[in-house]
Amino acid sequence: MNDSRAPLDGRPCVVPSILSADFGCLRDQVAAVERGGAAMIHVDIMDGHFVPNLSMGVPIVRALSRICRIPMDIHLMIADPIRYVGAFIAAGAKLVSFHLEAAARPLEVIGAIQEAGAGAGVAIKPKTPLAALDGVLARADFILLMSVEPGFGGQKFIPATLEKVDELGKTLRARDRIIPIEVDGGVGEENAAGLVAAGASLMVAGSAIFDGIDPEASTRRLHTLIGAGARG
Ligand code: DX5
Ligand code: ZN
Repeated sequence: MNDSRAPLDGRPCVVPSILSADFGCLRDQVAAVERGGAAMIHVDIMDGHFVPNLSMGVPIVRALSRICRIPMDIHLMIADPIRYVGAFIAAGAKLVSFHLEAAARPLEVIGAIQEAGAGAGVAIKPKTPLAALDGVLARADFILLMSVEPGFGGQKFIPATLEKVDELGKTLRARDRIIPIEVDGGVGEENAAGLVAAGASLMVAGSAIFDGIDPEASTRRLHTLIGAGARG
């Protein structure tokens, strides 16, 4: 079961991306990052259309919901996301983000996610400008800034993301809209504290956590680093 509250209170936290986990022993991998202090499990859904890769779908999310004690954060990298949000939330998603670039009517997608009882996130690719988010900032529960091109784990962090995080934080504060900023792609021990200092709080990390031999220790190290980089 994963009925704990999703961490949307702005406290920095580690959100391991299951994409890089060993799928032969998912239960152990999830338990390890939970012991290490993970706040949520990030699940990447890819359709081979919006992104040039396939990953997993609703049955895996349903299975994960029986394994996870912490909430699931579902990242939809799919075309026409409104068709599928209900199924993912019924399968146990507590947060669902979708790509602005993939949604003709993003406010309707946000509404569908929220009405189904989950937190709604709007994700943008690295080359999509922050101005594109203008119409959704008042309604989204969080914003996901991709710090690599979506589609694959293990890519190199795009440094310009730091500035984007800072700028988005300023825009949100200017509008009195305090919602978390999630950063996804190439996040690891070398950049996590800097991202938190810039204003990000939900730190997705896949390969940095699961590519090593000890996901529990990697999660704990990131957790400590993120605490150290937090704004007072
Ligand atoms: C990429 C995914 C990420 C990915 C992150 O499209 O959205 O969540 O799993 O993996 P790392 O941390 O290895 O870049
Ligand atoms: Zn992701």
